[in-house]
Amino acid sequence: MQYGHFDNAAREYVIDRVDLPVSWTNYIGLKDMLGVFNHTAGGYLLYKSPEYHRITRFRPNGVPMDFPGHYIYLRDEEDGDYWSVSWQPVGKPKEHYSCRHGLSYVKYLCDYSGIDASQTLFVAMDDPVEIWDVRLRNSSDRPRTLSVFSYLEFSFHHIDMDNRNFQMSLYAAGSRYEEGVIEHDLYYEENGYQFFTGSFTPDGFDCLRDSFIGPYRTERNPLVVESGQCSGSFEKGGNHCGCLKKTLTLLPGEECRLLFLLGEGGIAEGKRLREKYTFEKADEDFRRIAAYWDEKLSRLQIETPNEGMNTEINLWNLYQSEINVMFSRFTSFIEVGGRTGLGYRDTAQDAMMVIHSNPEKCRSRLVELMRALTSEGYGLHLFEPRWFDPDAKEQSFRSPTVIPTPDKSQIITGLKDVCADDALWLVSSVVQYIRETGETEFADQSVTYADEGAGTVYEHLKKILDFSARQIGQNGICKGLRADWNDCLNLGGGESAMVSFLHLWALRNFCELAEALGRTEDAEHYRLLAEHVQAVTREVLWDGEWFLRGITADNRKIGTHSDTEGKVHMESNTWAVLSGAATAEQGRLAMDSVDSYLYTEYGLMLNAPCYTKPDDGIGFVTRVYPGLKENGAIFSHPNPWAWCAEALLGRGDRAMKFYNALCPPLQNDRIEVRQAEPYSYCQFVVGRDHTAFGRARHPFMTGSSGWAYFAATQYLLGIRPSFTGLIVDPCIPHDWKEFRVNRKWRGSTYEIHVVNPDGVEKGVRSILADGKPVSELPVLTPGSICRAEVTMGRSDNT
Ligand code: GLC
Repeated sequence: MQYGHFDNAAREYVIDRVDLPVSWTNYIGLKDMLGVFNHTAGGYLLYKSPEYHRITRFRPNGVPMDFPGHYIYLRDEEDGDYWSVSWQPVGKPKEHYSCRHGLSYVKYLCDYSGIDASQTLFVAMDDPVEIWDVRLRNSSDRPRTLSVFSYLEFSFHHIDMDNRNFQMSLYAAGSRYEEGVIEHDLYYEENGYQFFTGSFTPDGFDCLRDSFIGPYRTERNPLVVESGQCSGSFEKGGNHCGCLKKTLTLLPGEECRLLFLLGEGGIAEGKRLREKYTFEKADEDFRRIAAYWDEKLSRLQIETPNEGMNTEINLWNLYQSEINVMFSRFTSFIEVGGRTGLGYRDTAQDAMMVIHSNPEKCRSRLVELMRALTSEGYGLHLFEPRWFDPDAKEQSFRSPTVIPTPDKSQIITGLKDVCADDALWLVSSVVQYIRETGETEFADQSVTYADEGAGTVYEHLKKILDFSARQIGQNGICKGLRADWNDCLNLGGGESAMVSFLHLWALRNFCELAEALGRTEDAEHYRLLAEHVQAVTREVLWDGEWFLRGITADNRKIGTHSDTEGKVHMESNTWAVLSGAATAEQGRLAMDSVDSYLYTEYGLMLNAPCYTKPDDGIGFVTRVYPGLKENGAIFSHPNPWAWCAEALLGRGDRAMKFYNALCPPLQNDRIEVRQAEPYSYCQFVVGRDHTAFGRARHPFMTGSSGWAYFAATQYLLGIRPSFTGLIVDPCIPHDWKEFRVNRKWRGSTYEIHVVNPDGVEKGVRSILADGKPVSELPVLTPGSICRAEVTMGRSDNT
């Protein structure tokens, strides 16, 4: 069953049926002001921080779902009938509504009662102002008098202030109105103002939420809209809202347009920006948002026989991956901002995936991560970049109900809270950054450590590798510590196969960097260490048909053939191949086991069979319901690791089978099962051992997005940068005859055409760059265009 369709030409997903089983969300804003909104205008807006500076309020995980939002009500002044442009909150018959999710905007459309209306939400490019672009058209055959009411509910800024202990916050926020501008003020904050205004002279206003809604009512039937009369409320103290009213008459066929502006700053700023944001300026900003995405998307475009892959790579997958880097992982309807800052491993991975489209942001994320590395070589699992930013200003927010602020000794949490994988990701991300950009000087940039002292980026990486080399358990494998990539695998002093494989991967990447920089002694030292790790892991972790997942502190194997639960795991088997630890034979067998134990039509499960008996030597995963989350769900994030592993093994048919099973657009006609957005990878899809098998949960904020993009472009299509050139090494289904990739790299454009006359899955017979045979595409003078003809097949000498 479908609820909508992809309009790729308009770069939109169109929701034709708005009565979705769950919220389908989208993101607006590209810099400091950000918002997340669903298909019915439910959602919230924030400035810089989802924890400390929320602008509008949201009641997460509630009923009715996803209230409140940024709403426009229309009221027919003839008969008093009223409705909302975004279907909810009033909820008139659904046939009258649709929603278009675009890149950094959302558009709601309705055609109720002879009035065509639309409301588009987006954020201005240069100022922290959200624009609601509202358009009305009288499509009936008689003049119509309508009142337009806006509604939003202001937040007390801090998520805790909005959700608990109101004894102070309820009396600390105020509102007032002056010449068409509503001001909301958090009195105790230095710059605690917001304004809400419009492109018109209002006929009424309300600043107090409870006056607008009325007692024992909801946003569905607010008193002000039902009666048609604003009360002109405002007060110092209480809960505040933004309601501006405009009454207008439209002749048959007549159209009108209203802009509403919600921004940072008080009345004066509201007046200033109202002058600035004319219709023309709003149109210009809307075009600039499109141009922003044009430019980003143009860095890599593909044309393949797989429409699902084309839609993802050319549009939604990059968009989702960029959003993860921009918003971090803490702004959604699930992650509602109560845990803020950066997650070490998530950020380190996200920042590796979109370097070609956002090198500046990725680099600044990498630096933030370096600063949160301790001089011992481990990263702080969750941190606020502000804590370690030498230029950070004193934070203005101080809770009036006195929540103690942590000092440095509490921030540097010590070994007990170290996740063994966290910083290892950073090594490969930095190396990847340099391969993509060619900025070798980044390695010599000096960065402080979280606790004391400073070192170059290169030295930070060595500390990370050395830390893992020291944290070895009784069998010679890296300890799992508080957790590894899998939050729910809590091995403590037990050993994690995945961490040793990640260590190996990081070592190999680092050696390439050391060699590229001419630091041969280091390259040699870490190459020997890598050989050692490879030998130990092959020996200790191989179980005959697959790799173990780890070994508990009391020396029990996890994921061995005699296990009846948690027998085969995805992380260890994919990483055994990806890291180069597995022999070719081990790799093939291990991935065959992944296929036979973990594959489902919706993607690969994380482990099977699921755990049903608590076992604290293994960890929290044994206490998660079977089929959900880390216990045997189709956890999306590791799925692309399996595509990479299959690509390294040269099995393109299998890699694409795995790719397609998870590919969101290919699920568009199964929404009765999937429920979630088909334009976003979700954190997990419920696994086979659960009654809701196939249901997807937690859109947008997931590492699967970046990994899917990276795996598809660099491993399946096989276009990846090295220090010296652009490698073309595809692994595709045997029945693909050809594909094209247009890739910008180091300032030049590479138009790559790959043909596959022999129907192979892997292997390149020849590469012609502008007619000349090469082994990889060369670095060119910026601004050049390179036309590459690549022929797959068995190489000439085989
Ligand atoms: C969540 C966490 C991520 C972790 C994964 C698996 O997605 O954000 O850090 O790796 O779960 O446990």
